[in-house]
Amino acid sequence: MRTVALVLAVVGSLAAAVAPAAAAAPEPTLRQLAARHDLGIGTAVDMAALANDQVYRERIASEFDSVTAENVMKWEALEPTRGGYQWGPADELVAFARANRQSVRGHVLVWHNQNPAWLSSLPATELRSVLKAHIQTTVRHFKGKIWQWDVVNEAFNEDGTLRDTVWLRALGPGYVADAFRWAHEADRGALLFYNDYNIEDVNAKSDGVYALVRDLKRQGVPIHGVGVQAHHTAGYAPQTMRENLGRFDALGLRTAVTEADVRMVMPSDSVKLQAQANVYSTMLKACLLTPRCLSFTVWGYTDKYSWVPGVFEGEGAANILDENFAAKPAYRALRDDLSLGGTRRRG
Ligand code: G3I
Repeated sequence: MRTVALVLAVVGSLAAAVAPAAAAAPEPTLRQLAARHDLGIGTAVDMAALANDQVYRERIASEFDSVTAENVMKWEALEPTRGGYQWGPADELVAFARANRQSVRGHVLVWHNQNPAWLSSLPATELRSVLKAHIQTTVRHFKGKIWQWDVVNEAFNEDGTLRDTVWLRALGPGYVADAFRWAHEADRGALLFYNDYNIEDVNAKSDGVYALVRDLKRQGVPIHGVGVQAHHTAGYAPQTMRENLGRFDALGLRTAVTEADVRMVMPSDSVKLQAQANVYSTMLKACLLTPRCLSFTVWGYTDKYSWVPGVFEGEGAANILDENFAAKPAYRALRDDLSLGGTRRRG
């Protein structure tokens, strides 16, 4: 018996030695974890990278359940010549999202940047009808396919006054309400957002936005949400973000973090990366603690394709994965936050 037992033990241990180590269960992705909180988790998408980089594509599909066009739904991209719409790249993104069961944030209808050159040569008297036509043609084209539209983007100065743009000059402050009304006529199912940067906290700029959206709500203008972009630095302390999102929530508006990234002075080091992780985490928690905060979108998820180094000299490493798609502390922080239990349901 003993011999048999010994033989069996030896065979058993040999089998264990040659058997592949039991595969560790794969870590859940952000997408899987966010679903537990009924939170949309999104990224901006660079269409050139989507076409050329398979890893980039695969990670978008596995990690996110929402996508935003980084550039291809902007006016200069959609209507480079007057009435000459080019839907191709934007349609590709919508098809990608559909294939991967993702929702789409539409970005952006009214802005002062990335407008087509032809717009600047039009007489002011034509701008109202041109803006209405662009909004309605675009929203109708994507009707039923867009979850949230950024209808008006970056219309405020830092002091809380309306920014001096082509739209304010030609149409007066009522252009904001008109844009929302026109978009709503074109797709009654889309959630319509005002979107801006440096309005994460309670400050003069977010006070200005708050006063405007409160008035729009009172007038019955179809505005459904406020997007806080959340472009920050690793030194940022978003101390009043929860309070700020809460006051928009109390107006009955949805909120969303729409363009999160956290840059740092290069080179990166472990202290900066941890500080960056803390900023991402604080912003995600502020959203999770706000009942109607619908989604948390990062403005690109890998340092391989980031707008930051091209704009902020000497800064970079703003995203949650590095340029080789390896997880940074920020990615792990988001995953840890989303692993916590929660009871919220989307408002
Ligand atoms: O399309 C041209 C291309 O034809 C040309 O060859 C190339 C050469 O530089 O430039 C291309 O345009 C670039 C465009 O992105 C499309 O790739 C512009 O130079 C570049 O300035 C532009 O940058 C974008 C920026 O908005 C412009 O305002 C960034 O990728 C994009 O991440 C950034 O996104 C904005 C949000 O829409 C609004 N909130 C702030 C955020 C960051 O600035």
